[in-house]
Amino acid sequence: MSDPGTILACRGIHKHFGGIHALKDVAFSAKRGEVTAIVGDNGAGKSTLIRCLVGVHQPDAGEITFDGRPARFAGPDDARRAGIETVHQNLALVDELTVAQNLFLNREIVRRIGPFRFLDRRAMKHQARELLSRLSINVPSVEQRVRRLSGGQRQAISICRAVGAGAALVIMDEPTAALGVQETANVEALVRRLREERVSVILISHNFDQVMRLSDQVWAMRAGRVVGTRRTAETNGNELVALITGAAGKAA
Ligand SMILES: Nc1ncnc2c1ncn2[C@@H]1O[C@H](COP(=O)(O)OP(=O)(O)O)[C@@H](O)[C@H]1O
Ligand SMILES: [Mg+2]
Repeated sequence: MSDPGTILACRGIHKHFGGIHALKDVAFSAKRGEVTAIVGDNGAGKSTLIRCLVGVHQPDAGEITFDGRPARFAGPDDARRAGIETVHQNLALVDELTVAQNLFLNREIVRRIGPFRFLDRRAMKHQARELLSRLSINVPSVEQRVRRLSGGQRQAISICRAVGAGAALVIMDEPTAALGVQETANVEALVRRLREERVSVILISHNFDQVMRLSDQVWAMRAGRVVGTRRTAETNGNELVALITGAAGKAA
């Protein structure tokens, strides 16, 4: 678990919700600078695993390491301070604020003049533009209110915020599930750019083609268990389907 090439790892993770044994002895790891995909049917435990890793849920048992150190996050904010950003389907953007304001939410740039503190709006707008252009994200203006943006643009802003905040690891749970074809392509391009910037990504996706296109390593879950992991280059959609449905039991 202390391999320096590993950004995040866990083992022996169990999670119960009442009578539901949602995670059963799960071991998982993500390599630094790679896109690590998690696939599995609805209810397989993918989101629960992510929530246990970032402290939304506390696992009933198991160990987690982040960046080579034991980690047990009190919640997503705690994980964020450590360098893990989670981009949810229900994005945590504030509709009534502008793109720039959202990008600097909770980490506003402040200028001091004598005893006074001012929000440095100009610096924030400037840095917001730089960040967006670095990641090739197209929005009409950083002064646009987020409420007026499309789903894909909002997704891009959330990811951009994660990068701007210096995240070493960005976790995306079904980031394109609600998006159209063009918006999905934009989010995929963004994932590639994160990888180029050596930001590690964990991507939960239903879309096997997308997983094959984007990921370096893929983990398959079924009914609360990890049932296999492959280098993406050494597998294919058929094998992944077999893994998540259990048809691979005989072949593997
Ligand atoms: N907060 C919760 N309370 C009770 N049961 C939950 C909760 N979250 C998830 N579950 C259950 O845990 C199992 C795994 O769910 P989930 O992790 O959301 O699966 P996936 O993301 O792979 O679709 C499911 O049976 C689901 O109903
Ligand atoms: Mg889910």
